[in-house]
Amino acid sequence: MSQHHQASPTTIPSTGGKLIRWADYYDPLVSLFTLARRSKLRQATVDLARLQPGASVLEVGCGTGDVALLASAQVGASGSVVGIDPSPEMIAVARRKAEKTGRTVDFQSGVIEALAFADHTFDVVFSSLMMHHLPAEIKQRGLAEIARVLKPGGVLVIIDMKQARTHRERLVKTLMLHGAMGNGVQHLPPLLQAAGFTQVETGDTNLRMVGYVRAHTPA
Ligand SMILES: C[S@@+](CC[C@H](N)C(=O)[O-])C[C@H]1O[C@@H](n2cnc3c(N)ncnc32)[C@H](O)[C@@H]1O
Repeated sequence: MSQHHQASPTTIPSTGGKLIRWADYYDPLVSLFTLARRSKLRQATVDLARLQPGASVLEVGCGTGDVALLASAQVGASGSVVGIDPSPEMIAVARRKAEKTGRTVDFQSGVIEALAFADHTFDVVFSSLMMHHLPAEIKQRGLAEIARVLKPGGVLVIIDMKQARTHRERLVKTLMLHGAMGNGVQHLPPLLQAAGFTQVETGDTNLRMVGYVRAHTPA
């Protein structure tokens, strides 16, 4: 059951996060900036969570839904996947992709800093390429919200850009319109620890400038 039958959200929730409204161009641009390794990055992202059939999954800032749709194939019919994003255009594209692929994902309007879910709802939460869209205060509130909605022993997987270390990386980031981005994914672990996460690990992905953080809620 894809969610294409739902009306597209028309009101935009209030947030300090930076929305992407040019949703129709988003996937081609990600393919361009990842040098056609977009699907490999998506697979690597989902693999980090070691999803089990039947798992309940949330993607915050889901954009056009790549990660949520792939997760849905892995958790199967006994599992469930929700994707939230405040951009109505992103949600509309994600729903169209769900319809086209026949995947079951509940794409909803929403913001990371005020998740509309009960405590301990999800086994896994993904945040893919979105943390850098948030100012520091919203990042911290968002991480606290993720810790709240994850079950005990739940897993958070964050993928994001690393801080640029060379002139070349700074140039690439500027071309990607992320030149002003100061901190990178490697600065997130202290924030995760402050939000109560344990077993915080960091690592690389198949893209040089993109890294991950994986962490758990206490069991
Ligand atoms: C670069 S896109 C990433 C989309 C997708 N996760 C991916 O991996 O391609 C960042 C997304 O974060 C969304 N966003 C911005 N502020 C947000 C907030 N406060 N809560 C949730 N999502 C937010 C934007 O609308 C945008 O779709």
